[in-house]
Parts: sequence; C-alpha cells; structure tokens
Amino acid sequence: MEKVTNIQWFPGHMMKTLRMIEASLKEVDVIIELLDARIPASSKNPELAELTSRKPRLLLLNKNDLADAGATARWIAYYKNNGYGAVAVSSKEQKLRKLCVEACSSLVKEKLERQSERGAVKTKLRAMVVGIPNVGKSTFINNISGKASTKTEDRPGVTRGKQWISLPEIELLDMPGVLWRKFEDMNSALKLSFTGAIKDDVLDVEEIACCLLGELKDRYFIRLAERYKLTKEEMPEKNYELLELIAKKRGMLISKGEYDTLRAANMLLDELRGGKLGRITFEEPNE
Ligand code: G4P
Repeated sequence: MEKVTNIQWFPGHMMKTLRMIEASLKEVDVIIELLDARIPASSKNPELAELTSRKPRLLLLNKNDLADAGATARWIAYYKNNGYGAVAVSSKEQKLRKLCVEACSSLVKEKLERQSERGAVKTKLRAMVVGIPNVGKSTFINNISGKASTKTEDRPGVTRGKQWISLPEIELLDMPGVLWRKFEDMNSALKLSFTGAIKDDVLDVEEIACCLLGELKDRYFIRLAERYKLTKEEMPEKNYELLELIAKKRGMLISKGEYDTLRAANMLLDELRGGKLGRITFEEPNE
C-alpha cells in the first residue's frame, strides 16, 4: 500500500471511554463487539481485545450487506477458531434481537448452568456493546431495542457516558465508540479512513483516494474498471493519474485541461461507502 502522512485519530475523550469500559467489565456477562465486515481486522480494536480478554465475546461483523460474502465467511470461521462467537449481520436490514440473545446465551451457557446447579437466582443476561466509531453501533442498538433513535456522538468535545438499555431478554450496556492509540503501521488507519471510521476532516482526501484506488486495482480491478468505464490499456500505473482520469471520465473539469481531483476523490469515497462499487472487503484472515 502507498505511504501516507500521519493520521491523527485519537481524540482525548476516547481515553476516558477506554477507562470506562475497563471499570464496567464486572457489571456484564458478555461483550458484544461490532466490527465492520469490510475490514474485520482493522475495525477490531486491539486495546479492547486486551481489556476484555477474560470475558466471553461475541463479534458481530456488521454492514455485511456491503462486504464480500466469501471473505465474510472466511472471517467468521477464523474468529470462531480463535475462541470468539462470530456472526455476520446487517443492522440496517435485518431484525437482530433474537439472533443476538441466542448467540450471547450460547456463549455463557456453561456459566448459567453452573449458577443454576448452585441454586443461584437466575439473573437477566447482561452484555456490553462496544465498537469503533461509525461501525453502526447506534443502528444496532436501535434495531435490537426497537427504538427510533439513540444516535451517539463520537466527535471531540461531545461527552457521552455509558447507557443501560433494558430489554425483556437482555440488559445492554451501550458504550461510546472508541478507536485505539497506535497502529502497527498505517494500513489499518487507511482502511478505517476508506470506510469512514476516521473522519474525512482529519484526512488528506486525495491521498486516501489514491491509496483506495491502489487497493481496488489489486483486489477488484474489474469492478473498478466497469464503474468508471476504464479499459485495461488506459489504466495508468500511478494512482494519482488514475484519479485524474476518473475526474476526466466524470466530466469534473476545473479549467481547460485541469481536472478536479478533490471532487473525484470525494465521489470515489462516497461511492465506495454507499456500496456503488459492489460488495467489497479489504482484508483476508491470512494476510
Ligand atoms: P455508530 O453509532 O457506530 O457511530 O454508527 P451509526 O449507527 O451511526 O452508523 C454509521 C453509518 O453506518 C450510518 O450511515 C448507518 O446507517 C450505517 N450503517 C449501520 N449499520 C449498517 C449496515 O448494516 N449496513 C449498511 N449498509 N449501513 C449501516 P450514515 O450514512 O452515517 O447515516 P444514514 O444516512 O444511514 O442515517
């Protein structure tokens, strides 16, 4: 992948969220972590993984409607092999309450059986819901609770605490979205910016779009070519030249001979995020 300049992604309020998650662990039986099915590794917060390692964990690969079905199946198998519960979901499209309650219950089945053998009073299942910003956590919570809107805010300066949501079968502890402080390399940061988890206003959009074009050329060449009516012969080697060519094909002219690459970059990201390029996954378990 191309080199990009450093991306600043960790606002101070997220540090507070991590501490809040740690302090609340004792209040729950199971952790539900939402991942973005298009980037099932990069959307998985390693700091959360460490904090929650002693709890049963259910991974929901959300936005499955936007992800490559074959890749999603491979990721589900991978995470199951690594001791997680894992299910592909689309919070926008399917009813999820029953599925989630069943998946959580099966993860804590043995614990509940032990409790009942000891004659302990049966308590309602309690799950903490975590995930990175923009992964679809509010949509998921609204879906499962049947509410119209509990939109969360992850913007710096907007503080938001944890929130219990009581349902007949389960208590959900909704936590604010949280990213992590360091990335091993910039690859994860880039993928998070493709999907919109890192907000565009902290990014150089053209730089990100060029990296995205590089990824699409490698992974989904035919779809890229079809969407922007590009032939193999005219596909430039350099990604910036490809961005210019896309601007040209879409008639995004600034002045004679000069194309609006910023507009093309924004359009490319919008089209990707809106699923216009088809179902796309940017990483495989074996990479
Ligand atoms: P967050 O609380 O984790 O920050 O995320 P939120 O639910 O606000 O969702 C972020 C965006 O992702 C929203 O789009 C939402 O509609 C979309 N989304 C959530 N789940 C799914 C899903 O399963 N599939 C698809 N395709 N999209 C999903 P938006 O454009 O920001 O808002 P809106 O125009 O949809 O209201």
